[in-house]
Amino acid sequence: MVETKIWQVDRTERHLENDPMIIEAAEILRQNDVVAFPTETVYGLGGNAKSDEAIQRIYTAKGRPSDNPLIVHVASKDQVDTICTDITPSARKLMNTFWPGPLTLVLPKRGDVSTRVTAGLSTVAVRMPNDPIARALISVANLPIAAPSANLSGKPSPTLAKHVISDLNGKIAGIIDGGSTGVGVESTVLDCTTTPFTILRPGGVSKEQLIEVVGLVSDDPALTRTDQTPKAPGMKYKHYAPMALMYMVPKGKETIQALVNQDKERGQRVGILTTDENVHSYLNADIVISCGERTQLSTVARRLYQTLREFDDANVDVIYSETFPDEGIGQAIMNRLSKAASGRTIES
Ligand code: TXA
Ligand code: MG
Repeated sequence: MVETKIWQVDRTERHLENDPMIIEAAEILRQNDVVAFPTETVYGLGGNAKSDEAIQRIYTAKGRPSDNPLIVHVASKDQVDTICTDITPSARKLMNTFWPGPLTLVLPKRGDVSTRVTAGLSTVAVRMPNDPIARALISVANLPIAAPSANLSGKPSPTLAKHVISDLNGKIAGIIDGGSTGVGVESTVLDCTTTPFTILRPGGVSKEQLIEVVGLVSDDPALTRTDQTPKAPGMKYKHYAPMALMYMVPKGKETIQALVNQDKERGQRVGILTTDENVHSYLNADIVISCGERTQLSTVARRLYQTLREFDDANVDVIYSETFPDEGIGQAIMNRLSKAASGRTIES
């Protein structure tokens, strides 16, 4: 166990680069130790991307399988050329359009990027986050920062500092508490080494938005078919699983209510994942949690992981979840829900 420092930082503060807490956290990164920090998507656990010692600390703290590569975070577009090579005009166009923001590009790596970061792959994933705290930290540290989501492997990604504390307190040097993250699901991972580019993980930037900038974009076949191996190693793991058995119920309210009635007769503790529109229409469930407004899918994305953690705290045996349209940010929501439910769906 180590003592984990907690720094409260206000992301609206001006001149964050001069904040003594940011300077202290950056100094710890320069010493090849690891700290958690907010990004606009989820909290990340950062370490010096050039240091094998720092990278090892990240894997150890999370209990992360070593074949799962990390995303390198940069504070400016120029920094990308110190990490990647052969950046095509289309990839540049995406950086110019969506950075800083929730888009990760997989590009050919430069020789001096540690193979610990890329898990031996010849490519590296890179993104420039759109959170002033994250960017100040990376620029004060003056290093590319490798950062996976700051959760224990297999837990939902953290969208509040208290989630990081509950998973990693005593295991890492510090946590910058910058409040809740905005997007709530991770960045979109886009492989720019294929023609057309391929979405390996849906996320904060939607397929529709990418198509507007580069024309055609394909999906990794593993996103829809279970007999394919995902090209992003992390996508093959059963992530985001709540402790209860979770089911997606596309048919919605009446079907869910019937299932709840059945389970309650058998003495089970039942949870329902719903939205503001429907939160008052269910009876008999032990806990009904709204994760946002159905007509505003960005609100659902923002609260999704927090909601999954709340079900764990409520100790339910089973969770029934409404489903969402598979478009825009809905693609990322449905991808994460489906993983949380291990694909279990009740059709009728
Ligand atoms: O929003 C995010 O992306 C957050 C914040 C902290 O930036 N980070 C994040 O990192 O979600 P992580 O490690 O939880 O997920 C990274 C994903 C994994 O599925 C990993 O396998 C994939 O990106 N990945 C990393 N490098 C890759 C590469 N060279 N080729 C293919 N997939 C890669
Ligand atoms: Mg993760």
